[in-house]
Amino acid sequence: MKVLGLAMGRRNGNSEILLKHALKACEDEGLEVALVRLHDYKIQPCTGCELCTKCERSGEPMRCMYPWDSDDMKQLADMIEAADGLICAAPAYHLMPPGIGMVMLNRNHCCIDSPRHRGEFPFVRRVCASIGVGGSDWTSLFMPILNFIGTEMLGSRMHLVDQMKLHRTPAVGMVLCNQEALDRATQLGKNVAYELKKTEGPVEYHGEEGMCPICHNSIVVIRNGRMSCATCDYEGDPIIENGRITGIKWDGDIEATRWSMHGHEHHDAEQFTAVKFEKGKGYVFTEEQKELMTKGREEWGKYLEPVMPKR
Ligand SMILES: Cc1cc2nc3c(=O)[nH]c(=O)nc-3n(C[C@H](O)[C@H](O)[C@H](O)COP(=O)(O)O)c2cc1C
Repeated sequence: MKVLGLAMGRRNGNSEILLKHALKACEDEGLEVALVRLHDYKIQPCTGCELCTKCERSGEPMRCMYPWDSDDMKQLADMIEAADGLICAAPAYHLMPPGIGMVMLNRNHCCIDSPRHRGEFPFVRRVCASIGVGGSDWTSLFMPILNFIGTEMLGSRMHLVDQMKLHRTPAVGMVLCNQEALDRATQLGKNVAYELKKTEGPVEYHGEEGMCPICHNSIVVIRNGRMSCATCDYEGDPIIENGRITGIKWDGDIEATRWSMHGHEHHDAEQFTAVKFEKGKGYVFTEEQKELMTKGREEWGKYLEPVMPKR
């Protein structure tokens, strides 16, 4: 079994050192490990051309507007595809993971289209874990997005087994002075190995509990007067004690959250309430809509020439 570590921070930086501790623990448990620094890879950003979506919907082999050999994304995606475990390690940049992680995630759709990724054939246990480091405690959006990158890249739908977040670690390498954090990263690696080596039972989560019992994070949005987990779409109401919110009484349908089959069908259905899609044909518009769109795009296309970079 292979565990791949994705490092998104500085070379030998704090997140990478923690990642290496986690990978070493996996190796000590007898697993094969490898490390990838995202900054060593050329990944062109998704332009939203929808070529891969069209291929997916028409059943054609996946293609991307970027030829596969024009950058390293396919190589990267294939390595992730071959891994059973994925550990993403990143610094917080502006409350979130660094852009390079999102650039990779955005491109992933065209690169991976396998039954293994879709979890379709003999169930394979694939798990992921996240390690996050912030210079301060400005990390509110960080872990949910980092976890999302890992679980989506792996296609394992919230098979997150552990996550750790370290605050107040700004200088490169200063994590080496924090034995507690290094031990926690080792434990994270052991948890990944334990879940991969387990031969039966569901994948379990070993990290700190957040408010949401599904993604274990605590980012909620208020919708229709109720609270809803921002990543899972799971609903509930606040528990108020002495005028303070002390928790959430979740009562949404767990089968209808974003990560369920129903959630995926809902996502597709939502798109197709706006526009019909026919296999082999693509989106189907009325003549009136086609005219509005063709004329409009032509006219708006003439308005305001974008300012080009001076080179
Ligand atoms: C562009 C940039 C933005 C950053 N934004 C944040 C932030 O929003 N919150 C935070 O806690 N730290 C922030 N930091 C600090 C890094 O998270 C911190 O230095 C971390 O240790 C870097 O990890 P690394 O050594 O693994 O690269 C930022 C650093 C950079 C370079």
